[in-house]
Amino acid sequence: MTFSPIIIGTMRWGIWGANHSEKEVQKLIETSMEEGLYTFDHADIYGDYTTEKLFGDALSQMKINREEVQLISKCGIEMPCENRNYKIKSYNYSKEHIMNSVEKSLENLQTDYLDLLLLHRPSPLMNPLEIGEAFDELREQKKVRHFGVSNFSTSQFELINDAFPLITNQVEISINHTDAFYDGTLDQLMRKGLQPMAWSVLGNYFSKESEQNSKIRLVLGELCKKYNVDENQLLLAFVLKHPSKILPVIGTSRWEMIRRFKKSLDINLEREDWFKLLEASQGKEVN
Ligand SMILES: NC(=O)c1ccc[n+]([C@@H]2O[C@H](COP(=O)([O-])OP(=O)(O)OC[C@H]3O[C@@H](n4cnc5c(N)ncnc54)[C@H](OP(=O)(O)O)[C@@H]3O)[C@@H](O)[C@H]2O)c1
Repeated sequence: MTFSPIIIGTMRWGIWGANHSEKEVQKLIETSMEEGLYTFDHADIYGDYTTEKLFGDALSQMKINREEVQLISKCGIEMPCENRNYKIKSYNYSKEHIMNSVEKSLENLQTDYLDLLLLHRPSPLMNPLEIGEAFDELREQKKVRHFGVSNFSTSQFELINDAFPLITNQVEISINHTDAFYDGTLDQLMRKGLQPMAWSVLGNYFSKESEQNSKIRLVLGELCKKYNVDENQLLLAFVLKHPSKILPVIGTSRWEMIRRFKKSLDINLEREDWFKLLEASQGKEVN
């Protein structure tokens, strides 16, 4: 399965962010497709369970064949909100919940199948055999083509992978969040020949004032001039440099930014410059 080199995240397109109209969502889809970025990342819960429908309504009005796009969704978080009667936030990986969640995602996205289904967050109560059964059935019914996890530790990945072969782990990776470089997450996927997916690739750089971000800003300033690119593009290039061939899931709700991010693929960030950024993030040189 070949995903587009940058995956388009939809979390902030609906009421959890820009609150876009169907037309605005169509412009985002259209731009993504023009840029050759055909993989879209969803989750059942985005927009309090409303964003998949917003996207599905928009896509179904466009002249795009289903096979031209890839749709990822996630399941497993039960989130209390206006649209659901859950009493508390919890995780549910019962077979029944997984099957029902996929059914709703398919209905909302107005499609017959998902290209990839991810278990959104690990649950202490998840039973790999029950999950494997659900995955088997979904594959058999041609409702989901591939399966993966998100935010799983390496041992949690193995636990599920023993019951059913997974193709990715979608985790948080950015200049502010480098744990996956060291905790075995990326090593594990590389050893298996699988590509990791990364969410929040800009970290908290634009959303938080901190000493760490001030240090990063200084280095980014210098490197933006050197490479003739902007800060967003360089932050993405930092993640793309990793040899595990990370597939970044970008979260912008602006179509112009999708075009800009695409250019990150052309940045050949030199090794020493990559380490300058890491040093700024750590606040000290490597040992
Ligand atoms: N698996 C998981 O657990 C998980 C968790 C979180 C997210 N995700 C996925 O990953 C995707 C990306 O996550 P994310 O949205 O947190 O990632 P992100 O791409 O790091 O952040 C996007 C946010 O940064 C803002 N931004 C970008 N450039 C900026 C700038 N120059 N100045 C100020 N703000 C700027 C964007 O605003 P604009 O919209 O205005 O550009 C948007 O609000 C989501 O859509 C979702 O699909 C997965």
